[in-house]
Amino acid sequence: MDSKVELTVLKLGGSVITVKEKPLTANEIAINRLIKEIYRANVDSVFVVHGGGSFGHFIAKKYKILEGYKTPSQLEGFAKTRQAMMALNKIIIDAFIDKGIPVVGIPPSACILTENGRILRFETRSIEKMLDLGITPVMYGDAVLDEKLGFTILSGDQIISKLATSVKTSRIVIGLDVDGLYTADPKTDSEAKLIGEISLRKLRRFLNNIAGSSNVDVTGGMSGKMSEIIPVLENNIPIIMVNANVPDRLFKAMRNEEVKGTKLFLD
Ligand code: IPE
Repeated sequence: MDSKVELTVLKLGGSVITVKEKPLTANEIAINRLIKEIYRANVDSVFVVHGGGSFGHFIAKKYKILEGYKTPSQLEGFAKTRQAMMALNKIIIDAFIDKGIPVVGIPPSACILTENGRILRFETRSIEKMLDLGITPVMYGDAVLDEKLGFTILSGDQIISKLATSVKTSRIVIGLDVDGLYTADPKTDSEAKLIGEISLRKLRRFLNNIAGSSNVDVTGGMSGKMSEIIPVLENNIPIIMVNANVPDRLFKAMRNEEVKGTKLFLD
């Protein structure tokens, strides 16, 4: 990629773009607002990854896709997970294109292979070509093929981490349904306090104490998210986590303006 162009890798959490408790329900109002914010922010170059929310986790859990291939009846589940994620991706792609942003949806299973759930190969050349041309690639957490397990679920968080450490990235912006990283789970603990900023050293110490979020998330909730992004911080790429449900926070984070959230950095 042109070295002067700054690449922002953006993760849109599944709980923001879908109604998490209602299977196969997109939050179209949130999607359209967020796309306007991304458009207004007008950053150089963006790689978007969205989560599965109520399109991914219910089906993946029902058919135990994360655990890998054990019985032929799971094949239907693999196909249905992919189908649901492509449907969600299409809703997002359509909204971007309606706004005049040239995006291309990329199914992870087409260019990523995992081994025991970890990315083994990620063919990024086409993505780099897209970014060079000014096209915004839009990927997502999904069911993928796995060398050892047959198939599994790959989280959007692992994708952003691998992408940012493979293709020159200036920073990562993560849009969530909470204000950022808390000292405890803010949904269950009223004493929980927002951590405004945290270094990698402190994050490592803190990580064991983060409670996983207590829903049907098959990819590990908040602590899973945090462990995935450690390599990004090790590569000295800063991360900001913001509440994408609150209007303008994503916009400000994309613009690198002061905003409520959690900033994560090397030291
Ligand atoms: C999960 O992706 C994808 C599936 C379950 C198919 P993520 O783990 O990135 O999704 P969210 O953001 O937690 O919903």
